[in-house]
Amino acid sequence: MSENLYIPAEASKSEKYEAILPQIEALISGEPDLYANLANISSALKEAFGFFWVGFYLVKGSQLVLGPFQGPIACTRINPGKGVCGTAWMEKKTQLVPDVELFPGHIACSAASKSEIVIPVFKEEEVVMVLDVDSDILDDFDAEDQKYLERLIRILEKTF
Ligand code: SME
Repeated sequence: MSENLYIPAEASKSEKYEAILPQIEALISGEPDLYANLANISSALKEAFGFFWVGFYLVKGSQLVLGPFQGPIACTRINPGKGVCGTAWMEKKTQLVPDVELFPGHIACSAASKSEIVIPVFKEEEVVMVLDVDSDILDDFDAEDQKYLERLIRILEKTF
């Protein structure tokens, strides 16, 4: 696998996801180091879509702790049930938030973040981390993002 991500120009969102998912799979499937894989996934999503912030929070003890990410500095620790990430963790369900201002308890790491999607990552039916993607555009995520990002997370889960 070469270390270049091919992103089709002038492509629709789903075409971009269809193009990058197999490349990410090729990149991470032979690599046992989790942090390397989380770093490359964050980078690939940022590069393909230009999202404001893309990264992972990992369950460590009784909190989520910041892991590999792309974007501005972010809060380091999140308590269970707090914010969008803590809610995805506790409810074990993707949270698609069109307007973060309307999400009770949203944690504003940056005032620029307007919409957000958080996908839980499972190991043996327990959440072990979450993928958090933030946009500076209101209502920037839809069912298509959810479908492809969940597909990506299923690929990641096969690596550990
Ligand atoms: N907004 C998130 C916190 C993490 S930052 O957006 C990077 C939340 O409410 O959980």
